Parts: sequence; structure tokens; C-alpha cells
Amino acid sequence: MKSRFITFEGIDGAGKSSQIAAAVALIQSRGIPVVQTREPGGTPLGEKLRELLLHEPMHLETEALLMFAARREHLAARIQPALAAGAWVVSDRFTDATYAYQVGGRGLDEKRFAALEKWVHPHLQPDLTLIFDLDPQVAARRLAGAGQAPDRFESEQADFFERVRAAYLRRAAADPARIKVIDAAQTPDEIRKELEQIIVEICFQ
Ligand code: TYD
Repeated sequence: MKSRFITFEGIDGAGKSSQIAAAVALIQSRGIPVVQTREPGGTPLGEKLRELLLHEPMHLETEALLMFAARREHLAARIQPALAAGAWVVSDRFTDATYAYQVGGRGLDEKRFAALEKWVHPHLQPDLTLIFDLDPQVAARRLAGAGQAPDRFESEQADFFERVRAAYLRRAAADPARIKVIDAAQTPDEIRKELEQIIVEICFQ
């Protein structure tokens, strides 16, 4: 079976993390090797950049450039070698997050985003992207309940997450074959079932 690249997206607090584990378990249950990773991060350098990105104040374009710098390293050191070896790669976020957060949330010029995307991965897109879609008010309550100190993104206000959510939905509308939107207001069990159906339908062919 051809290797697959699957990414998970959504605003902070949408609940994607627990579902990633379910997706990885489903793929492994078919005897397929899986690399689970995340962005920003996924490599030693990428994890250092993540620390800066999540905690250090910076210019919006610096933020976008560092996201793509971490991604370049991630692709070269981890994602592309794994795919070439026949493994599947499941990543907690990828380039759609830069579109949603930096273009949608922060107002990065869309042409600059497009130029970076074309530079860093001109011929590669995920085979499947799952967007966990949730009302930012509900997501904020979930985050507050988790009781962890918020990072630079999690500290943003509701209107920021409204823009991030809208940008994710625009991106999904532009590429409906690749990007599937999951209603994250459902129960965890309902979400897991929908997720598994989509993965079976799109990836296990
Ligand atoms: P996230 O992956 O949600 O991790 P955790 O669940 O541990 O908080 O956090 C990463 C943050 O980085 C998230 O708020 C979104 C942000 N982000 C961007 O703004 N742009 C990007 O390109 C990526 C990959 C992430």
C-alpha cells in the first residue's frame, strides 16, 4: 500500500490530540508502520524553534518564516524519509495551520504565505487533512478546564480564533478532496467513529 501523509488541524482546544492517538492505533492495527509527529517541532531543531514560537514575542513575518523553517527541517529530516521508506506519517498540524493562524489570525499577506508554501514543499501536500471545527467559546472553556499555562497562541482572544476558524474553513472549501471538516462539538466517541470512517475510505484503498 502506498504511504500516506495525514495531518490534523483545528483551533486550540478543539480536541484533536486525543483523536490522533486513535488514528495512529487504527493504522497500526493494519500492520502499517506509522511515524507520529507534530508542528512546529518534530525534529531536535524544530522543537527548539517551537519553544521560541510559543513563548517569545516576535514580528508576524518572523513567526511565519520560523514556522516554515521548522517545516523545512521536518520535511527533510523526518517526513520525507519516512514516506520514502513506506511508513505513514501522522502530523499534529502542518501548512494549513500557517494559513489559518498567520494569514487568518494575524493578517499575514496571503501572497507571502503562498510563496513560502511553494518554496518549502512545491510538490507535496498531505493526502488527507482532518480539521476539528469548534466554536471558539467552547474551545476556550475546554482549554481553561485543562488548567495549563497558556502559550502565545492560546492567550489570544475569541476574535483571533474566529478568524483562525474561518481561514481553516476557507482552506477546506478550496480543497474539499483533501481536507475534511469534522464537527468537534460531537462526543469523543462520535468523533472517533467519523474519523475512522474517513481514514478507511480515503486511505485504505
Ligand atoms: P498545538 O499543536 O496546538 O500544541 P499543544 O496542543 O501542545 O498546545 O500548539 C501549537 C501552536 O502553534 C498552536 O497554537 C497553533 C500554532 N501554529 C501556528 O500558529 N502556525 C503553524 O504553522 C503551526 C504549525 C502552529
